[in-house]
Amino acid sequence: MSLRDVSPQGVNLQALIETAQALLAGGKGLLAMDESDGTCNRRFASVGIAPTVEMRRAWRELLLTTPDLRSCISGVILVDETMRQATSDGTPFVEVARNAGLLVGIKVDTGAKALAAHPAEKVTEGLDGLRGRLQANFAMGARFAKWRGVIAVEGERLPTSACLEVNAHALARYAALCQECGLVPIIEPEVLMDGPHTLARCQFVTEAVLRSVFDQLALQGVVLEAMVLKPNMVIAGLSCAVQPTVEQVADATLQCLRRVVPAAVPGIAFLSGGQAGPLASDRLNALHLRPAAPWRLSFSFARALQQPALGLWAGSDSNTVAAQRALMHRARCNRAALKGEYSAAMEGE
Ligand code: G3H
Repeated sequence: MSLRDVSPQGVNLQALIETAQALLAGGKGLLAMDESDGTCNRRFASVGIAPTVEMRRAWRELLLTTPDLRSCISGVILVDETMRQATSDGTPFVEVARNAGLLVGIKVDTGAKALAAHPAEKVTEGLDGLRGRLQANFAMGARFAKWRGVIAVEGERLPTSACLEVNAHALARYAALCQECGLVPIIEPEVLMDGPHTLARCQFVTEAVLRSVFDQLALQGVVLEAMVLKPNMVIAGLSCAVQPTVEQVADATLQCLRRVVPAAVPGIAFLSGGQAGPLASDRLNALHLRPAAPWRLSFSFARALQQPALGLWAGSDSNTVAAQRALMHRARCNRAALKGEYSAAMEGE
């Protein structure tokens, strides 16, 4: 039994499939601007911005009103607070995004919480009441959603099978509910880059995580043609003494994905996970210089798109234009990477 079998109850599968394809079309990617209040405030603190509702609203206004964003970005992932906010002249952000030609997405998980009996591991929560929240978000204009599971790596000890299983289960139940409610699920199982683990260990763990996720998606009847996968690239841990080349990352990532991601999935939009913007672009570029993959490969970055712009803005209106230019620069670099046309020389432009 899958959602295909229950579609007479009102699910418009064709519309879902078209939305998934639109998110991946035109050589564009996604702008993730769905940091929780706590994460957003921490990033503000690092550049001296006050952690207030108004500053978060102003920052999201800057992002959404960046001229020509649609030339590189197909959709934006908002957080509940932003979904309900408006520009300083009172235009709801959802309307701003749609008028700018951007599909609206919403992060619907309620965060990664400590997993009982498994120290240092987390399970993402938010399934309670999710159907009602998805219906409300659809009514407000959202057409896709996001849920992020986080998987920590620690030697051979972590992740545990328990952590993989609960997160995969939650992702699949979220995805099935999304499709029932008319939203394309972005399915984000993130193997964290903190730690000294090797490229090979990251590949092993990422493969196990994705295998578990696709098993659960099948079990819960999720329609693969109407979803987008948002995984980590396969990279070595941040403090690993041996850092792989860009080519090694591309090869390991593609080998891993080919082993476990069904060809029915229309596209894979990578998260950046804390990689510096130029490095993320370079690795994305290398992925597009390899033989064609069965899925579209794209990006769904937060930090690797926003970080330089946030530092330039620093909370001051007088820096808005410079910050928007910096955002567009990263967006153009990543658009170029989707064609295999990014080079370090672009960073000087
Ligand atoms: O949940 C995380 C975001 O969607 C992606 O953020 O590109 O900074 O890893 P990131």
